[in-house]
Amino acid sequence: MEHTEHMKHIENAHFISHPLLQHKISMLRDYRTGTNEFRKLVEEIAVFIGYEAFRDLPVEMMEIKTPLETCQSPVISGKKLAVVPILRAGLGMVNGILTLVPSAKVGHIGLYRDHETHEPEEYYCKLPTPIEERTIAVLDPMLATGGSAVAAVDFIKAKGGKKIKFLCVIAAPEGVERLHRAHPDVQIYCGCLDRCLNEDAYICPGLGDAGDRIFGTR
Ligand code: PRP
Ligand code: URA
Repeated sequence: MEHTEHMKHIENAHFISHPLLQHKISMLRDYRTGTNEFRKLVEEIAVFIGYEAFRDLPVEMMEIKTPLETCQSPVISGKKLAVVPILRAGLGMVNGILTLVPSAKVGHIGLYRDHETHEPEEYYCKLPTPIEERTIAVLDPMLATGGSAVAAVDFIKAKGGKKIKFLCVIAAPEGVERLHRAHPDVQIYCGCLDRCLNEDAYICPGLGDAGDRIFGTR
């Protein structure tokens, strides 16, 4: 079985094959897509990924009065969702998720990959409380070596987080494997599983540097 095929059988890793989502990811990859369009696409793609990731949110029945009669109808229950983007690129996904769950609380984790070692360095962490009672959606468009994702989940668990989902746009097999190995309880939702990493730990074919393309830096 090919490496990428094997990944698709990992329990808790979900790859979303909807044609509308795949079309938008193709536009995102294109080197000609400018910052404005790129940012819009990341936000729209996050809506698709969130839609899949939040299928299992708990609901409770509520009495609703329609213009015709009163009925019991489901509404989302429990503590409000926590959305935690990994800075910087994860910020690009936040508004898409808030479109789906406007009442969600937003935390932040600041990490950057050291250019030499490719390992993550933390510079910021602020999470909504009580974190242990919330479903937590960690956002980052890119799951490359998995170092940033594992470090983010480590921090969240150290602060008491329990029910964690990781939402990304593109993943490399190496990243899915590393995150799953370190945190098998974390559900991974991914728009596309790419072929491999290159020698600079960039995802191939990928889309380049997500943070730079979202914020127009280099
Ligand atoms: C990118 C990306 C992820 C990380 C993925 O961020 O947004 O956070 O790399 O790589 P990994 O799986 O190998 O850890 P980067 O470190 O470039 O920081 P930035 O978002 O500030 O540009
Ligand atoms: N981070 C990115 O932004 N892109 C990659 O391909 C890998 C890590």
